[in-house]
Amino acid sequence: MKTAIYLDNNATTPLAPFLKKILIKKMEDWGNPSSINQTGREPKKIIREARQNLAKLLKVSSLELIFTSGGSEANNLALQGVFFSQVLPQLLDKTNSDKNVRNRFIISSVEHPSVFKTAEYLKKFGLKLDILPVNKDGQINLDQLKPLLGTDVAMLSIMYANNETGHIFPINKISNMVKDCGALLHCDAVQAFGKVPLNLKKLGADLVSFSSHKIYSLKGSGLLYVKKGVNINSLIQGGGQERFRRAGTENTLSIASFGLMAEHMLDSKIISEYFLKMKTLRDFMEEEILKNISNSKIIGKDFLRLPNTSNILFSNLNGESMLMSLDLKNIALSTGSACSSGSSEASKVLKAMGYCDNQARSSLRISLGWQTSKQDIVLFVKELISITKYLNTL
Ligand SMILES: Cc1ncc(COP(=O)(O)O)c(C=O)c1O
Repeated sequence: MKTAIYLDNNATTPLAPFLKKILIKKMEDWGNPSSINQTGREPKKIIREARQNLAKLLKVSSLELIFTSGGSEANNLALQGVFFSQVLPQLLDKTNSDKNVRNRFIISSVEHPSVFKTAEYLKKFGLKLDILPVNKDGQINLDQLKPLLGTDVAMLSIMYANNETGHIFPINKISNMVKDCGALLHCDAVQAFGKVPLNLKKLGADLVSFSSHKIYSLKGSGLLYVKKGVNINSLIQGGGQERFRRAGTENTLSIASFGLMAEHMLDSKIISEYFLKMKTLRDFMEEEILKNISNSKIIGKDFLRLPNTSNILFSNLNGESMLMSLDLKNIALSTGSACSSGSSEASKVLKAMGYCDNQARSSLRISLGWQTSKQDIVLFVKELISITKYLNTL
């Protein structure tokens, strides 16, 4: 691959070099983990160990973890799983008076499409949906959340950190408010995992989603934490895998990589060291850009953000033109969420935050990774300065 400087780590991360060697060996364990003959033994052990490592890292019981195919499936399982297990039966029970029914979900306006579209889809089955606004600095107002939390709310789904801007939501405070109204809390922690320390016991969420390929492991596995006692329906009917909550033969190799990365992150210094490294480089990069490129603005710069993410508006410039020019220099980044790239639509997240179409088209999302070096940032900023100068002359 030609890309010399990779600054799109929120889209996906490269496989950690230490995993490559181990995984080549694990490819020999090709058996079906459900097989009771000897070919199934090692794959079953791989999955058990991965689950134990993830449980240890997240400080939960391994019985509370369900492997999925990725973050999108984990989010779908959380929303659909709760809806079909807890909300739909109430709606179908004709003896229920409307007053007693919890048939409303709340989500923020900047959720990933795997939450947003799933919630919209469930409206067809009778779900009521409220959208909590997010302002231009990527912040929610808890005073706006309070009146939405009635006794008809079944679940609030809110991300830990936004994939496009990196802003972190106050999950602990939200959790207390949601508990007071008797609803469930789902948190999409796909972007936060590996970037900030996470302790699910302290977080206070009932369901939490994760994805392996955002933490330097293989694509193809994800995880949903479901707190003991919370019932969900399986999305996929079939075999009894994952204690009947997710049918289908497990992606052993990806799960192995996910578990090995969890084991690696058990060293408490890893996350804090990478946090500091990425934040120092990100802050340096932002300073250089603000100093050298007039009309550049960091979205929500002074608010709590992931250490690796920066979303920058360049007024009067087109994000896609900047991205293409940088791509020609072998520098990879993104204009919006990767999942919506391929279409030239303006970022839905920035539009939901109140930016107009033109502004939303003038942004770049830069996301650093564990592997990013100072030299990468210096070269990137140098190229960006010359590209913006050139584009400004057109
Ligand atoms: C916040 C967030 N949630 C969910 C997902 C989906 O994860 P996956 O790509 O594993 O399906 C993404 C992917 O970009 C994300 O950023």
